[in-house]
Amino acid sequence: MPLVKPPRLLLLGAPGSGKGTQTTKLLLQFPKINSLSSGDILRNQINSGTSIGLEASKYIKNGKLVPDTTMVRLITKQLHEMDWLDKKAAWLLDGFPRTSNQAVALDNTLHTNNSNINMVVELDVDQKVILERIEARWVHVPSGRVYNLDYNPPRVPFKDDITGEPLSKREDDTAEVFQKRLDQYNKEIGSLKDFYNNKDVLYKVSGSTSDVIFPKLSNLILQNFGV
Ligand code: AP5
Repeated sequence: MPLVKPPRLLLLGAPGSGKGTQTTKLLLQFPKINSLSSGDILRNQINSGTSIGLEASKYIKNGKLVPDTTMVRLITKQLHEMDWLDKKAAWLLDGFPRTSNQAVALDNTLHTNNSNINMVVELDVDQKVILERIEARWVHVPSGRVYNLDYNPPRVPFKDDITGEPLSKREDDTAEVFQKRLDQYNKEIGSLKDFYNNKDVLYKVSGSTSDVIFPKLSNLILQNFGV
């Protein structure tokens, strides 16, 4: 079914809840939607050795959030460069905003351009299953493609399916750092959800496998933006 209204989506969810995995599936089903992952942008900055990357790395490897001012500047620049402020653009944000300060800053930018977020979906996955997934996660940093040695392994071990380039482990995927990221998420998520609930755009999708989560997510988008 084609989309008749442009979705401007935000995926919320604990680290490891599957935001990146669901994004990849959604882009295959809805090719008109573009996506932006704040984590992928930061990892690319780190890999390229930029000043933002150097600053971000200190926070990420300790499971802390990068400061709001840095994130707002970085993502707003990307939004301009990708023409996402055009109200006809269809897009999906993964990982930004993740504090209420970031949400307010983004809302101001989008509101000025009449292109507010029109759907926020929380991926609700039991946090006990998440840690097991993280230990088996490998990533292709340039593209952000995510693999899991148990759930969706690469065709050739430790190589990206598309480019054949090596996969790597994320520096923040250790059990100790991961627990800090979960704690940070649990601290911020309440006020972020309140912010979007007050705008009447908040939805929740629960489940622990993609067979359960993806059809619910896809249906939500079709019901709200399809014919
Ligand atoms: P970011 O990269 O955004 O990490 P995150 O939110 O912690 O989320 P993850 O990427 O860990 O998980 P995901 O939900 O995408 O799950 P995935 O699909 O990979 O951010 C990293 C860091 O950058 C932050 O900690 C922070 O320091 C900084 N940062 C980023 N944005 C920021 C911001 N706005 N402000 C401040 N700082 C910011 O899935 C996880 C694993 O599970 C994979 O192996 C996958 O294959 C597997 N899996 C997925 N779905 C399933 C399933 N259904 N069944 C079995 N396995 C599955």
